Amino acid sequence: MSKFPKDFLWGGATSASQFEGGCLEDGRKLSHMDYIRRIEKPDKEKVFPINVTSAMFEDHKQHEQEYNFPFRRGVDFYHRYKEDIALLHEMGFKVFRMSIAWSRLFPTGLEEKPCPKGVQFYHNVFQECHKYGIEPLVTMIHYDIPVYLTETINGWESPKMIEYFTHYTKFLIDEYKDEVKYWITFNEINMIMNSSYLGGGMFVEKSDKPKETCIHQALHHQLIASALTVKYMHETAKQCLVGNMIARLQNYPYTCNPADVLATQQQNQFNYFPTDIQVKGAYPSSILNYYRRQNITIDWYPNYETILKEGTVDFASISYYHTSVISSDPDKAEPIGAFVRNLENPYNKITDWGWGIDPTGLRITLNDMHDRYDVPIFIVENGLGAHDEITEDHKIHDEYRIEYLRAHIQAIKDAIDDGCDVMGYTPWGCIDLVSCGDCQMTKRYGFVYVDADNEGNGTYQRYRKDSFYWYKKVIESNGEIL
Ligand code: BG6
Repeated sequence: MSKFPKDFLWGGATSASQFEGGCLEDGRKLSHMDYIRRIEKPDKEKVFPINVTSAMFEDHKQHEQEYNFPFRRGVDFYHRYKEDIALLHEMGFKVFRMSIAWSRLFPTGLEEKPCPKGVQFYHNVFQECHKYGIEPLVTMIHYDIPVYLTETINGWESPKMIEYFTHYTKFLIDEYKDEVKYWITFNEINMIMNSSYLGGGMFVEKSDKPKETCIHQALHHQLIASALTVKYMHETAKQCLVGNMIARLQNYPYTCNPADVLATQQQNQFNYFPTDIQVKGAYPSSILNYYRRQNITIDWYPNYETILKEGTVDFASISYYHTSVISSDPDKAEPIGAFVRNLENPYNKITDWGWGIDPTGLRITLNDMHDRYDVPIFIVENGLGAHDEITEDHKIHDEYRIEYLRAHIQAIKDAIDDGCDVMGYTPWGCIDLVSCGDCQMTKRYGFVYVDADNEGNGTYQRYRKDSFYWYKKVIESNGEIL
């Protein structure tokens, strides 16, 4: 008998800005993601394309025609959704994680009524999924906000975003509640602490607040917006389940020196706190004390304690790619609050992009979360970003990807055997899409290859990789054949 529950949600994940394309079609306007440009060789100071500053933004606007903006293209799901969903069905998907582009429905974010063609597009996608018995899992915001809101109110720094966002999410719930059962409010809500442009659509240098205060203020607005959305969902769409999401980083102490262990514990608290709030309904004391010690003053939203309490989620979801190693040594340590740590873990291999491969870390994380929260866990992103070679006869032999996924699925199976309540697994970029961090097609995650390069050249034809056939068997056997 399979260790996986019989209704386990096998599938894959995408996001609108990395997948859809059609950025100016049928009334859609640009999002802040559409102003992230591909920088072929990040310079020595490590300029990451996603960390757009206000100066870079102005430069990007002035060179709209010359620069390469891959998120505007995605991989053309907008026109190929039927073919793509048929491929997902061929693999036996039970669930398909996707996001809605806010700017496709409300192009500037301020409109009272949505664009009818945008509304119809998502109806079409959901109907196509249901034709094959695939449940959509919809992320309401996977980073992208209408760029107008970045330009006019500095994105999530402004409390006005709460009003605009809940206007959008209430519309989503009213319109799609009978077609979409599973929802996530924010993709990786903690990512704003790592990249304020990506996660918040804002420029910290434009704020009159200190950087960290500005970021935590914006995160507060997002947490309120999320809780109000969850409350509305629970009141008006009882058939639906709604979750939160963080980028989960399991942190390990560099040594068994208690100082390293303490630093690790603090970093884990820091990583978890948005989920603590969204699952338990209140700020944990560890983060409030962190604010006090760092002189971070938050303008609390009126009635915020009640709002958070009334807006707790039905499940907790995570992306899981790698783990981190924490040291208390000032020469090694990064300040608490930093997001991705790069201290080497000699026990783990790394990917071509330097991400540690750690399936056991997934089992640890699932157990940790199960002990911490009393809700089911949904792994909504995981996967190996790799270089893929396509042969002349259009085959892609991606044994390395199979190996990675096999080990992670085994870890989930073991965690379920440990007693963890895991409801589903949607590996990232199930059809190749524009990768986020470096804004490129070179780093691929999919079971399906898309013929497109970093400049947008290619036919955009889809080809099944070896992992496609392998994952189909995994799903067919409910995780027994790995
Ligand atoms: C997650 C994001 O952080 O990681 C995705 O939710 C992203 O949008 C994924 O694509 C993988 O990161 P990258 O940089 O390899 O695309």
